[in-house]
Amino acid sequence: MMGERIQIRSMEPGHLPQVMAIEKVSFSAPWSEATYYREISENIYAYYVVALVGEKVVGYAGRWLILDESHITNIAVAPLWRRRGVARQLLEYLLHASLSQGANRMTLEVRSSNLGAQSLYTQFDFTVAGRRRGYYTDNNEDALIMWQNDIAAFLAKKEAEHGADTGY
Ligand SMILES: CC(C)(COP(=O)(O)OP(=O)(O)OC[C@H]1O[C@@H](n2cnc3c(N)ncnc32)[C@H](O)[C@@H]1OP(=O)(O)O)[C@@H](O)C(=O)NCCC(=O)NCCS
Repeated sequence: MMGERIQIRSMEPGHLPQVMAIEKVSFSAPWSEATYYREISENIYAYYVVALVGEKVVGYAGRWLILDESHITNIAVAPLWRRRGVARQLLEYLLHASLSQGANRMTLEVRSSNLGAQSLYTQFDFTVAGRRRGYYTDNNEDALIMWQNDIAAFLAKKEAEHGADTGY
């Protein structure tokens, strides 16, 4: 993997210009900076993290905690940093955080054409539980609804495979 060390930190307002640069090249219907600002400053159910190399934001992810369910809202990695395990680290961090915040289930929606992201989620034991037809209004694409129903069991399995030190 890369020599640089990735650190996962809470998203702060100062990260937003870099987050927006990644957002705009990653999504066909990007969220606005104002939306992210509200998410990190006002939404008590939301938690967003950034992946940092030094001061540079190379990726980010967020979730809403709804009762005992963790709903992933967004995950994106800067194009030049993709396929280096950054999303894997972000997701693993959110799984640990969700568990410690009382959620043992996690869900997300993904475009039916986004096979790369689906492959990432499958590695975290997410499975397809349903489909929302025409969910994405920009191109009328379907969303697959994926669920991970036992975060604790998944993390225990990972620890048994790789040892307890996740590096965070
Ligand atoms: C999806 C995304 C977040 C993945 O980020 P990433 O940091 O490149 O992912 P990782 O390097 O952690 O990938 C982990 C594994 O997921 C799978 N994977 C990730 N991207 C993939 C792709 N484009 N094609 C196929 N498999 C992929 C691979 O198995 C990969 O492991 P490998 O590289 O050892 O084969 C990134 O491509 C992105 O930002 N895309 C645009 C935004 C987006 O689609 N977000 C998801 C919305 S639901």
